[in-house]
Amino acid sequence: MLFLLFIFLSIFRISSQQFTTNDDDDLTPPPNIITYKTSEVPVLRTDFFTNSLPEIQTTLSAPRLTPEFAPGFPPLTPLWDVPSMLPTLPTPPPFTFPTFPTLPTIPPPTIKPVNITIDPEAIMDVPEIIAHWGYPVETHKVVTPDGYILTLHRIPHGINKTSSTRTKKPVVFLQHGLLCTSSIWLLNLPHQSAGYIFADQGYDVWLGNMRGNTYSKSHLRMNSMDPKFWKFSWEEMARYDLESMVDYVLKSTKQEQLYYIGHSQGALTMFAKMSQDGQFSRKIRKFFAMAPVARMSHVKGLFHDLGEIYDQYNMVYQVFGDGEFLTNNIFTKLMTDILCDQANNNPICENFIFAVSGPNSNQFNNSRIGIYLAHNPAGTSSRNMLHFAQMVKTRRMARFDQGRDLNLKYYGHVIPPEYDLRKINSSIYLFYSDLDWLANSNDVEGYLIPMLPKNSLKKSTKLKDFNHNDFLWGMRARAEIYEKIIDTITLDQRKIKLQDGVQKYFDSLPTSFPSNLSDTLLQTVRNETMEFELD
Ligand SMILES: *[C@@H]1O[C@H](CO)[C@@H](O)[C@H](O)[C@H]1NC(C)=O
Ligand SMILES: *[C@@H]1O[C@H](CO)[C@@H](O)[C@H](O)[C@H]1NC(C)=O
Ligand SMILES: *[C@@H]1O[C@H](CO)[C@@H](O)[C@H](O)[C@H]1NC(C)=O
Ligand SMILES: *[C@@H]1O[C@H](CO)[C@@H](O)[C@H](O)[C@H]1NC(C)=O
Ligand SMILES: *[C@@H]1O[C@H](CO)[C@@H](O)[C@H](O)[C@H]1NC(C)=O
Ligand SMILES: *[C@@H]1O[C@H](CO)[C@@H](O)[C@H](O)[C@H]1NC(C)=O
Repeated sequence: MLFLLFIFLSIFRISSQQFTTNDDDDLTPPPNIITYKTSEVPVLRTDFFTNSLPEIQTTLSAPRLTPEFAPGFPPLTPLWDVPSMLPTLPTPPPFTFPTFPTLPTIPPPTIKPVNITIDPEAIMDVPEIIAHWGYPVETHKVVTPDGYILTLHRIPHGINKTSSTRTKKPVVFLQHGLLCTSSIWLLNLPHQSAGYIFADQGYDVWLGNMRGNTYSKSHLRMNSMDPKFWKFSWEEMARYDLESMVDYVLKSTKQEQLYYIGHSQGALTMFAKMSQDGQFSRKIRKFFAMAPVARMSHVKGLFHDLGEIYDQYNMVYQVFGDGEFLTNNIFTKLMTDILCDQANNNPICENFIFAVSGPNSNQFNNSRIGIYLAHNPAGTSSRNMLHFAQMVKTRRMARFDQGRDLNLKYYGHVIPPEYDLRKINSSIYLFYSDLDWLANSNDVEGYLIPMLPKNSLKKSTKLKDFNHNDFLWGMRARAEIYEKIIDTITLDQRKIKLQDGVQKYFDSLPTSFPSNLSDTLLQTVRNETMEFELD
């Protein structure tokens, strides 16, 4: 991100240099007709104006409104007599404006003309992208307890199936990571992108958007121009946004549980939430954590630098207060699409992505990088970035450090308390990789896996050569992640059906059936189906 800023700054510098001109031209009086060397950018001469000022002024008369346009108003009279107030200057030669048509032959810019072909998905929003590929799409709004209005996108069914309300479809909830939006699940071709794959598998797919990103920038009472709007970090996303979105989805689908798939910060927030709220954990049937960020001790690349500059960043934050960190507006969109149109021979685009996520693993479709960058980074708060910087600096997964006094006031400690992952009670499946610079495998193996209770951690899969974004956009993601998730969900659905069948069978038994027998039997069968583990 810092790198992107740098690009902007350099471009502004270049473009402003083109229009600065030499001031030490000779100061001879201007001729009546000026011709420019075509290689020169014209210099506006202030002496034109001083010399010709009286001439111009005297020829100007106060505008008179015709009566039909200003009925009832007397004609305006000048406030003072212009000519009498001006000193009598020698009459300058009559001024004629230079004939501009001779000018515009500006020397050709040194930048080679490029074919700007904007990929259609780069300038579409999420519902448009989904519709573009022929999938059904819905948009829902959810209000959090603290007033933020979040957008949920939904792909209710696959491309070939029509919606049927008779059978309950498994609900899959996809949650994006830092500086991203729901778009990240949709940016490759349909057979490569998680959103469409799960929809075609027969799942009811919901895509969350955390507060502060392009789709969740409204509030009941505040405007996003208001600095107070931006006073949040991932701590609030965990506390409010997850629960509001999950509750809404369960209510709309009339289900009790859903499958949650979180990438990066989407996993981090779920770990934080589950460690504090056992009631909430029950609503998550299974939690698939992709590139799971928890403790960030071994992070590399740009995020490592973010930890290094923490003190400066904190100072800037203290001075400027809350605000938006980086937004994704039409300007950024066009910039990146133009910059990255020729991604194969433009290292800027690749470097920006890889500086954050890890080295190129060669599973990227380089011709889609422009699309990825057109949708991300997509805005978050400076406070959230500061929270990440704190994590990198302190090597702890803790609540936001508000400074000594406020920490004492809110947490009762000088340093903010850590989230206790040992309290998590859920079914968790990890997907991580040694090539990931953010969710580094040293942190996953050295901290996350040992901390998660054995009952909760069902499986962890270490992938070879996935950088942080390959989990979303890599060419191997479908085979090595999404299809594994589908296998797990399919088995789990069978297990639910079996349990329901067993339950129904015993419910249908005549009441004359010896109750002690049925209880014991039921318990045995229940115990066995419950323990029937997948994988
Ligand atoms: C631009 O596109 C035209 C036609 O599609 C092609 O002939 C030309 O080589 C392209 N130029 C560049 C710089 O890619
Ligand atoms: C949808 O149907 C078409 C035509 O029957 C088929 O070619 C395509 O593979 C199907 N797509 C999916 C995702 O099932
Ligand atoms: C974990 O959750 C399950 C169901 O969600 C519950 O039956 C069990 O008692 C919980 N275990 C602990 C240790 O809280
Ligand atoms: C890569 O992206 C391009 C353009 O979006 C697409 O035409 C091509 O099929 C993609 N390649 C692969 C291997 O998916
Ligand atoms: C069930 O209860 C009956 C009497 O109430 C008893 O004779 C029988 O042994 C019990 N069966 C089991 C399996 O406990
Ligand atoms: C079923 O499991 C529970 C708890 O693990 C245990 O107390 C009970 O004895 C088991 N029942 C049978 C019939 O195996």
